[in-house]
Amino acid sequence: MTLVDDAYVRAEAHGFGLSCEVPVGRLLAALAAALPPGARVLELGTGAGVGTAWLAAGLLPRTDVTVTSVELDPQTAAVAATGDWPSFVELRVGDAVEFLRAAGHGYDLIFADCRGGKTEGLDRTIARLNPRGTLVVDDMTEIDGWPDDFKAAQRGVRRTLVEHPDLVSAELDFGSGVVVSVRR
Ligand SMILES: C[S@@+](CC[C@H](N)C(=O)[O-])C[C@H]1O[C@@H](n2cnc3c(N)ncnc32)[C@H](O)[C@@H]1O
Repeated sequence: MTLVDDAYVRAEAHGFGLSCEVPVGRLLAALAAALPPGARVLELGTGAGVGTAWLAAGLLPRTDVTVTSVELDPQTAAVAATGDWPSFVELRVGDAVEFLRAAGHGYDLIFADCRGGKTEGLDRTIARLNPRGTLVVDDMTEIDGWPDDFKAAQRGVRRTLVEHPDLVSAELDFGSGVVVSVRR
C-alpha cells in the first residue's frame, strides 16, 4: 500500500474525519514535487498524517527535502506516528504557533491546516514563508452549518491572504476550497 493509501486507511480506522481531501492532497504533492533541492516543507496540524503522506509522496524518491509536521494533540500525533515514514519526514508534537515562534528558519512550502497558524497566528505563518515559498490553506468554501465565529475567522484568513502586499494569491474552487499564496 502506498503512503497515501495507508494514511487514509489509518485515519478511517481511528475515526479521524478531518483529513485533507484527495484533490487538495494532489495539489500538495504537485507543489512538493516542484521544490528546489534542499527545500523545507511545514505542515501545521498533522492529523492522522494524510497531508503529510501526500507531501512525502510528491517528493519520493528524492530525499533532499525535509517535511516537518506539527500536531497539538498527543493521541492524534501517536496515530500519525504509526505510519511508515521516509527518513526526511519529522513529526512533532506541540502547538503550531509556538513552533512557528521558535523556528530558526523559513519554509518553502507550508500547509497551514489547523487553527494555530491559520485562524490564529496567520501572521507568524506568513513570516516563516521564504521568498517564492508557497502557502496552502483549504476548507475555504463556506458551509452553511459553520458556526458564525468560524465563518468570520475563515473570512479573515481569506482576506489576509488575498490582500497581503507580500503575497500573490489564487483562490481555487475545488475540494473544500483552497487558497494558494506565494511570497514575492
Ligand atoms: C484539519 S486536521 C489536519 C489534517 C491533516 N493536515 C491532513 O491533511 O490530513 C487539524 C489537526 O490540527 C490539530 N491542531 C489543532 N490545533 C492545533 C495547533 N494549535 N497546533 C498544532 N495542531 C493543532 C488537530 O488536533 C487536528 O489533528
